Amino acid sequence: MEFSIKSSAPENLRSDCLAIGVFAGEKKHPPVLSDSGKAFDQIANGAIGSILEKGDFSGKNGSCQFLYKLPGIASERVLLFGLGKASEATNASFIKAIRAVVKSVAATKASDVMIALDDYADAATKIRLATLAAADEVAGKTVQKEKNLALKKLAFWRFIDGRKNSCASAEEKALHEGEAIAAGVKLARTLGDLPANQCTPTYLGETAEKLAKRHKMNCEILDAKAIRAAGMNSLLAVAQGSSQQPRFIVLEYKGKSQGTKKSSKKPLVLVGKGITFDSGGISLKPPANMDEMKFDMCGAASVLGVMEAAARMQLPLDLLALIPACENMPGGDATRPGDVITTLSGQTVEVLNTDAEGRLILCDALTYAKKFDPAAIIDVATLTGACVMALGRVAHGLFANDEALAAALIEAGNAVEDRAWRLPLWEDYQEALESQFADMSNSGGREGGAITAACFLSRFVDKKTPWAHLDIAGTAWKSGREKGATGRPVALLCQYLLRLAEN
Ligand code: BES
Ligand code: MN
Ligand code: ZN
Repeated sequence: MEFSIKSSAPENLRSDCLAIGVFAGEKKHPPVLSDSGKAFDQIANGAIGSILEKGDFSGKNGSCQFLYKLPGIASERVLLFGLGKASEATNASFIKAIRAVVKSVAATKASDVMIALDDYADAATKIRLATLAAADEVAGKTVQKEKNLALKKLAFWRFIDGRKNSCASAEEKALHEGEAIAAGVKLARTLGDLPANQCTPTYLGETAEKLAKRHKMNCEILDAKAIRAAGMNSLLAVAQGSSQQPRFIVLEYKGKSQGTKKSSKKPLVLVGKGITFDSGGISLKPPANMDEMKFDMCGAASVLGVMEAAARMQLPLDLLALIPACENMPGGDATRPGDVITTLSGQTVEVLNTDAEGRLILCDALTYAKKFDPAAIIDVATLTGACVMALGRVAHGLFANDEALAAALIEAGNAVEDRAWRLPLWEDYQEALESQFADMSNSGGREGGAITAACFLSRFVDKKTPWAHLDIAGTAWKSGREKGATGRPVALLCQYLLRLAEN
């Protein structure tokens, strides 16, 4: 998709489809045209307004209605789209409206669409959100179905009410950011959807290497031998039941410092769980929906997606992605329940349940991160079924040892409709991990499972390093008829990074 911003006079514009926003009426009042819509209604001699008066289109958020051959309008089709009540308008309702437009237009033969936007105070933000939403909606059609859409171009028409368009460059920048983030989301979705026989640990490594080449990033891939030499025995303990060789990916993005702002020497470290298939190992999972365990590398995929987006945006930050990647299988060499392993940190773990493998590969990555003296660490993992029980498929589970980091991540998620909800990391939960035979066990049992998993991870980070853990088990993919990776939380993390780069 090709995106652009247009602000020329409405009478000079033509497109295959002109999309016009309509607000739902307040109380029992009829729907109201948006300001940008009114500009076109003038050219149409009030035809749009009189259609609205008939009451067939309510302006309900997410609804759409095609109109054809409107007098005075050069565009073949006009699409009315519902913004919901003006008094209830949020970024979320705006995103929903844009997605509905793209979905409707993508079902037609139109090859380009022009969406009329009002004179929003936060126009740049709106354009970034709309670009991401539109690109993601199109990607959803093409990633999963490989469909060839007629729709190739999307333009935003900016209604500028009596003021000079002085923010044009900020809006162009926002458009570019939206495209960059969409590319990151698309990468995460594509990797997530790939089956485990194609998306192996080796493949993840190759993907990181390609990414590094494309964006001139440094990339180091540790194979089994190098992982052993580094002492990441816990990662190896998970990998050893599979004939797929493990990888440990180190991908580094160094942003150029801009102006007087210096890029800090300490990197922000992103850690992503890269289990390319989670059979459960010897603690084998039940067969129902086991296919969905190909998505158990979505943490890794989203970290790669963020790196892609950050590089495209040329963010003035230093980022380091660490991805432990392997397959959890019940082969003859597999780790058994009861086995005791020594992690890279030196702490020992009794493996009570081989299906609690995510924390075993993450703990070594978290320890490895110390080498880089991180400013902060954020790990992203499809870690626990318990998190899906607690928060469903709406919010990521968020855990953090640092109030400011937690608040910044929650705010970032809220801003881009990729929300996280914080759960506690209280000491009281740590005792669930006690073991008779090692420093800890890898399973805290069923109760509070998302929290005890996070508690396990917390034992591998310094208290003085700000650290956050995002449990994306419920949010990384959709099940059922719409089965597929969502690309979450790439948008949340990119929003966080954009804010970080500003300060
Ligand atoms: N990858 C799973 C978590 C998962 C399960 C994500 C279902 C999405 C849907 C993880 O490796 C796992 O199996 N966790 C166990 C931990 C338990 C054995 C302590 C779980 O959640 O059941
Ligand atoms: Mn598991
Ligand atoms: Zn898993």
